[in-house]
Amino acid sequence: MSEIYPVSDDWKKKAFVTAEGYTAAYAQSVRDPDTFWREEAKRLDWMTPFTKVKNTSFHEADFGIKWFEDGALNVSANCIDRHLPERKDDIAIIWEGDDPSQQRRITFGELHTEVCLMANALKALGAQKGDRITIYMPMIPEAAMAMLACTRIGVIHSIVFGGFSPEALAGRIQDCDSNIVITADAGMRGGKLVPLKHNVDAALTHCASVKACLVIRHVGNDIDMQDRRDVWYHDVRKTVPCDCAPEIMGAEDPLFILYTSGSTGKPKGVLHTTGGYLVWAAMTHHYVFNYTPGEIYWCAADIGWVTGHSYVVYGPLANGATTVMFEGVPNYPDHSRFWQIVDRHQVNIFYGAPTALRSLMREGDDWVKKTSRSSLRLLGSVGEPINPEAWEWYYHVVGEGRCPIVDTYWQTETGATMMTPLPGAHALKPGAASKPMFGVQPVLVDGDGTLLEGATDGNLCMIDSWPGQMRSVWGDHDRFFQTYFTTYPGKYFTGDGCRRDADGDYWITGRVDDVINVSGHRMGTAEVESALVAHAKVAEAAVVGFPHDIKGQGIYAYVTLNANEVESADIRADLIKWVRHEIGPIATPDVIHFAPGLPKTRSGKIMRRILRKIAEGDVSNLGDISTLADPSVVENLVQSRSTAG
Ligand code: PRX
Repeated sequence: MSEIYPVSDDWKKKAFVTAEGYTAAYAQSVRDPDTFWREEAKRLDWMTPFTKVKNTSFHEADFGIKWFEDGALNVSANCIDRHLPERKDDIAIIWEGDDPSQQRRITFGELHTEVCLMANALKALGAQKGDRITIYMPMIPEAAMAMLACTRIGVIHSIVFGGFSPEALAGRIQDCDSNIVITADAGMRGGKLVPLKHNVDAALTHCASVKACLVIRHVGNDIDMQDRRDVWYHDVRKTVPCDCAPEIMGAEDPLFILYTSGSTGKPKGVLHTTGGYLVWAAMTHHYVFNYTPGEIYWCAADIGWVTGHSYVVYGPLANGATTVMFEGVPNYPDHSRFWQIVDRHQVNIFYGAPTALRSLMREGDDWVKKTSRSSLRLLGSVGEPINPEAWEWYYHVVGEGRCPIVDTYWQTETGATMMTPLPGAHALKPGAASKPMFGVQPVLVDGDGTLLEGATDGNLCMIDSWPGQMRSVWGDHDRFFQTYFTTYPGKYFTGDGCRRDADGDYWITGRVDDVINVSGHRMGTAEVESALVAHAKVAEAAVVGFPHDIKGQGIYAYVTLNANEVESADIRADLIKWVRHEIGPIATPDVIHFAPGLPKTRSGKIMRRILRKIAEGDVSNLGDISTLADPSVVENLVQSRSTAG
């Protein structure tokens, strides 16, 4: 057991929430949610005040999730316009390019003008309230402007991470029938060009719904522009007015769709709505980071993931914070880059992913120590379990023992943070997500759904709704109910395993379904399998996760080739290339293990438990294999494991 770090006296004084304050507010949030949320919702400006706070049920008979349902508001007005009287000249966005010599600083006043211009440009291209627009962008301020412009005119955005392939992009455009795509000529990551417009061109050959593509010039590389479809933003921008009234949106009107992987089938379009999501993002940003006006806040996530939505753009800007956007990667031009950015912009709050920390930790402390980091006062972690070794390094080396670490546990589906230690309220335990956020009611259940009490391991569920909960799967409301509310009827099942210790602190132990977490990116094993079996030489594939020092989990693929194919290094290389082409580099298998057969039950079900053990190299205790149709398959896989690569 690692050390426990108590709240410092300094933090006890400056924190918004103390230990006693947390206990009282949490109790009220659960006992009397109406009063609690009525008060919290005051942090936003409502165009029409709501009268009804919560109207939710996780039960099949009256299933539904609505918050603040008769209220109306606009997200971009909350993130920009309402700050203008006092903060017009304050910096809203600090941008740092992949190239360390490139920086931009954008005030709230400038952001207002830019968002209005982009909103009007979208209108000029035919965008209307309720349309879906796909955003495929690098981490540049125009990405945040595009998001806010959509919200300004009531358009639902769907952001696709710039690392996804044209195939993956096309699937996501088709699923939500986008009529416009916003992209850039290219992005830069680690000195390498990411050919975004080129990828969009390839995707759009399969997307008849797209009538226009708005292109931001960023890198200046040569690209093809298709007549009547593609328009340069800098051209349209000159032709449209610089003011655009924000659309009045119902609290339950859709705000954005974000595709994420599940344990089965295609990625699903997680749908978030306007009022509850923004209350949740703003409130959690306020308490978790203890954000005080004037501080510089940096969340190092990409807007292609939910963390970028809630904690680069919506949460911080709703709170009038100065948010840093970084285009590049942690190790370019060298391993000091993160900490150089901290010094250059005097960052006070840094929020990043364990995978980046582990990769930097490996390079040694000197890269950190040659920077000052004296501006830092709070650190955050997100996206995957942080191992105690990385936690201790983050705390002692990066934060010099001065900065609490908020280890925030949440999901695309939950909109924002569900569990975390609050910096002035909770002692820190390396690796623990600690305590539930206000209004969050976690329970642990066993495989049969029986509630487990006290210190125990179990499957993590939520027994009641919170404002930022997803509302549906785009185009398939039944899939929403089936995926999350039927495993344990009446409860939202997270898919995560979790331990509760004797102090009532929660520790996330990782996914218990067929989702794996590779470098903090969520990947459905089924997706990688379907990419593999789509290859002409593959008969069957089974994919599992295995522990990986840097990535947290790596991708281990068992592949059975067609009968006439011979295993070879060439086929292995070809399969890896194929998966990158079908999904994107983040899905690159770490290991391909050619398997003449896969372990199956007599009814034909692949026994993944055994495949996971073999991938982990833990073959001494494979458990009961007597139910297998052909137990010799297992022996063969154990023998051939050393040849996998
Ligand atoms: O397994 C949990 C893990 O990431 C999953 C959610 O992934 P995604 O929807 O992509 O959202 C990532 C950004 C919030 C969860 O089901 N996870 C996320 N944060 C943590 C975590 N596991 C442990 N500790 C965390 N702090």
